[in-house]
Amino acid sequence: MLPLLAALWLTAAPLPAAPQALTSVTSSRALSDGLELRAGEATLRISALRDDILRIRVSPGATAPEDASWAVLREARTQRVKVKALPESEAAVGFRTAALEVRVEKNPLRLLILDLQGNLLSADAVGRPTQFLGGGFQLTKQMPADEHYFGLGDKAGPLDRRDQAFTLWNTDAYRNQESTDPIYKSIPFFMAVRAGRAHGILLDNTWRTHFDFGKQWRDAYSFGAEGGPLEYYFLHGPEPRKVLEGYTFLTGPAPLPPRWALGFQQSRFSYEPESRVREVASRLRADQIPSDVLFLDIDYLDRFRAFTVDKSKFPDLPGLIRDLGQQNFRVITISDMHIAKAPDAGYAPYDTGVAGNHFVHNPDGSLFAGRVWPGDSVFPDFTRAQTRAWWGSLYKELVAQGVAGHWNDMNEPSVFSPLKTLPLDSVHRIEEPGFESRNATHAEVHNVVGLLNARATYEGLLKLQPEERPYVLTRATYAGGHRYGATWTGDNSATWNQLRLSTPMLLNLGLSGFSLSGVDVGGYSGTPPEELLTRWYAVGAFNPLFRSHAEKGTGDHEVWAHGPAPAAVRRRYIETRYRLLPYFYTLAEENSRTGLPMMRPLFLEFPVATEDKHPLDLDAGHEFMLGRALLVAPPPFPENPDVYPVTLPPGDWFDFWTGRKAEGTRSGTAPANASTPSTLKVTPKLDELPVFVRAGSILPLQPLVQHTAQVPQGPLELRVYPGPDCQGDLYLDDGHSLAYKKGAWLRQRFSCQVEANGLKVTLARPTGSYPAWWKSVDIVVHDWPEARTSATLARGGSPSVRYDAATRTLRLSIPADRAGSELRLTRTP
Ligand code: NOJ
Repeated sequence: MLPLLAALWLTAAPLPAAPQALTSVTSSRALSDGLELRAGEATLRISALRDDILRIRVSPGATAPEDASWAVLREARTQRVKVKALPESEAAVGFRTAALEVRVEKNPLRLLILDLQGNLLSADAVGRPTQFLGGGFQLTKQMPADEHYFGLGDKAGPLDRRDQAFTLWNTDAYRNQESTDPIYKSIPFFMAVRAGRAHGILLDNTWRTHFDFGKQWRDAYSFGAEGGPLEYYFLHGPEPRKVLEGYTFLTGPAPLPPRWALGFQQSRFSYEPESRVREVASRLRADQIPSDVLFLDIDYLDRFRAFTVDKSKFPDLPGLIRDLGQQNFRVITISDMHIAKAPDAGYAPYDTGVAGNHFVHNPDGSLFAGRVWPGDSVFPDFTRAQTRAWWGSLYKELVAQGVAGHWNDMNEPSVFSPLKTLPLDSVHRIEEPGFESRNATHAEVHNVVGLLNARATYEGLLKLQPEERPYVLTRATYAGGHRYGATWTGDNSATWNQLRLSTPMLLNLGLSGFSLSGVDVGGYSGTPPEELLTRWYAVGAFNPLFRSHAEKGTGDHEVWAHGPAPAAVRRRYIETRYRLLPYFYTLAEENSRTGLPMMRPLFLEFPVATEDKHPLDLDAGHEFMLGRALLVAPPPFPENPDVYPVTLPPGDWFDFWTGRKAEGTRSGTAPANASTPSTLKVTPKLDELPVFVRAGSILPLQPLVQHTAQVPQGPLELRVYPGPDCQGDLYLDDGHSLAYKKGAWLRQRFSCQVEANGLKVTLARPTGSYPAWWKSVDIVVHDWPEARTSATLARGGSPSVRYDAATRTLRLSIPADRAGSELRLTRTP
């Protein structure tokens, strides 16, 4: 069925007699920042926010839609650059910025966007004009045969969205599978990549939206909504990372998470009673499984009512949190967004919510109630700023008791009955600075409820603890929601296919603003067999969020399930993650400034790696980059014991585990040289997930700790993998407060340079006021050919070196120097 036909019964809007199509330009007006056009009754306005970012707004009449957004920052929406009008002709009108040419063909009306070299980047499809119908709209763009699409959050399926169609409507999708759509989130942003050139499109519309990448038409993609404004942004690259920078400009960066959120997190629905939680904590410590976080799922609550405690199972929650704190565990508690409808029961969230008019209403003015975990429940009206402030204040006691993080679940919103969510005509109230105050139907705001729930929690926590970084985990969200919460992919299953899907889902989330994301390790629904669980821990250790979680009634998902031998393997992956924490944390900090995700598709780092410049990931969708330096290559079919090919992007690579050069084979018609990818055949091994390091990297590692609050004892280790543009970074701060905003951080850049008969390694002078924990630095240089090597420090001193011929590794130790260090390694044959 056509998406727009689906709209006919889903929206309450009266139907126009016929679709309104924007067929031809009837008048145009040059603006200092763009262009305004009329097409009959309709108006189209194109404004340049920056030279590389256009805002396109189309309305069926003369008035523009309200200029308000839950996703796009006001500062970005109101920024403008001056453009240069192109001479108008009979056929076309347009303008140029310093990066783009915008051309509108008049009859038929088509918008074309080109770069200044004349490459056509995006064009409305021929013969398929933009249409308004039934309160909604649809527009169609040309789909070149070699263009590929990424993003739209964690929609399941392959990494490339081409040949698929999606509906964005936040949905509780229990046990979702590869073909399940829609699922929990709506992030109407995608990146188009063609022949090494990328651009992004963000459709800022909170209604039910549709994206079709060539399923309906072979040569066109389309997107549309069932209501609301037709407003989208075009973000020029050409580099994919530039598109992400533009997306961060529009929607803002994610906050720097607390460091403990990058540690290993153990969860289950539910650890109960209190004694069981203590048992799990003690077991993690006794078995020396590095870990930071324990979750309390809904069974700690009294009759599943948010912001209460079941005293029969958890007689002393503050005491429990304190004791777990002594063992260096942080506790995250769940607070579903629904509030039990419990009048006259002394249940403060309900009573204060009613008193403050904080719940969503039915059209007749009564409160909407639906059944969820606690039985009949009501739903906070998060589009009211006051309601968000009220919600935030509900965290007071949990925060006072030392709860470190907060989990907002069921916020699609999910309802068990009578419907799966709120009725489309239920009434929300928009009372928000920057928005017109008015009523809005649930059909309009459904997709943004999860974002606003997380925002309410985030802002509430910040108010309650102004010096601490809030940590919120949310299941549903919308574009821009990364400003308030980390997320996970919801209720997956303990199947091999779900492990396989986890990589493209997290990659596409990262490309949609959500870097700090994870999946339920082990699979939420069902009991993972031994090998699946081990392989899941292996991959999960390299995902941004690393949380083991399981549904009620399933077998153990903890590291120790299946006995000591698999536990030892799983523990080693967790230990590797903790040794790599300086690298993980540095990536999280980079994301908080730049929007570059921690987990990246290969094309983000290597946009022009193939002969025809197609995204490298099309050949290697199971692989991912963690930051600039690490390539993780789980098997494409993880249950398959057969040898499989790993695609190594151009350049040299090292095996992370052995430190030895990985020699792939280069093929293809191009001359075999370092600028083409190579292929390596790998035999899957349980205890060695293939991980490679890019030549030209300096990787910081720390001595093993059991949790992130433990100060590492010993030297910082810098693993140097010589190669072109050799570099590494380190960011450090106290890991939990906002003191970093005032300079209480440490940053250090590392670089290396191959010289005639040796290597120069530079540790730049650290900046910022935060003290380092290390007193010395161990430098490990890989692929070093020569035992006879002398080391000299520019400031004086000749540290002694150790050489391991078997691994071709050179090691030495230098004192940490606040002024930085320059080290020369010279072969002395
Ligand atoms: C649904 C969530 O997706 C799941 O992670 C959680 O355990 C259950 N709700 C119970 O709270």
